[in-house]
Amino acid sequence: MSAPERAPGGPLLEGRGLEVRFGGVRALQGVDLTVFPRRVVALIGPNGAGKTTLFNLVSGFYRPAAGTLRFDGHDLTRLPPWRIARLGILRTFQTLRLFPALSVLDNALAGRHMHGGGEPWQAALGLPSFHRAERRAQEGAMAALERVGLADRAHVPAGSLPYGDQRRLEIARALAGEPRLLLLDEPAAGMNPAERRPLAALVRDLCERDGITVLVVEHDMRFVAGVADEVVVLDHGVELARGTPETVRRDPRVIEAYLGSGRRQRDGASGGGA
Ligand SMILES: Nc1ncnc2c1ncn2[C@@H]1O[C@H](COP(=O)(O)OP(=O)(O)OP(=O)(O)O)[C@@H](O)[C@H]1O
Ligand SMILES: [Mg+2]
Repeated sequence: MSAPERAPGGPLLEGRGLEVRFGGVRALQGVDLTVFPRRVVALIGPNGAGKTTLFNLVSGFYRPAAGTLRFDGHDLTRLPPWRIARLGILRTFQTLRLFPALSVLDNALAGRHMHGGGEPWQAALGLPSFHRAERRAQEGAMAALERVGLADRAHVPAGSLPYGDQRRLEIARALAGEPRLLLLDEPAAGMNPAERRPLAALVRDLCERDGITVLVVEHDMRFVAGVADEVVVLDHGVELARGTPETVRRDPRVIEAYLGSGRRQRDGASGGGA
């Protein structure tokens, strides 16, 4: 891959004037996004605000109708999802996308595929390169499971894990791809407070200890306040506010957007979160 042009100390991810349309619906319009390395940035906003759409843009699942999107000097708007993953942008999904019948380890291994494991023809010839690649993939997947505290469950079917652990496995699968930028779409959704606290600690630690930059969509403001350096608020496809969790939480426009959407206070930016 060609050497990227990158200003030292500049943002890792930078979007300008991003627009996505679905027929008559403008899911995003004129959205700017700046994410500096080794930061945790939270993306919040009412249902339908465009949060997942923004993730789909960054991970290459959608192309913007307008705007620019750069990651570490690369123009993301021209790259297919697998190339973007190979640059180190890995994601989880809002609804779980695990293979319940496969083992926890095999699910984590799925996250390493774009690193190019052994090819089947190499296996058929019994080439050492195949076995080396396979071993590296297994080690990477196990390390990812250890990181999220699931190494001791590596050989049970993913579907047998409690729900909160399945969500952690989704993160492990992304970690197995060795992310520089990790996109987490509502990682704490459906978790109880006892599961959320260690998850927030894990996300913070991935940033501080492993140097992974994180963009996280989450509704629970207590979770957001515990992990995020900065919060970006979207509403109806436009940026409504940005700032620290504290300033955003007190912003009347943000409170209005959440209350106006009918979202309950326990989920909303106006409340203490659950
Ligand atoms: N593939 C699609 N086809 C048509 N419309 C879409 C598509 N994806 C998203 N939309 C629309 O774009 C808007 C933004 O949706 P998006 O899923 O990004 O919202 P969100 O902020 O992630 O919401 P939620 O909190 O419910 O997950 C919504 O109006 C949604 O209906
Ligand atoms: Mg969403």
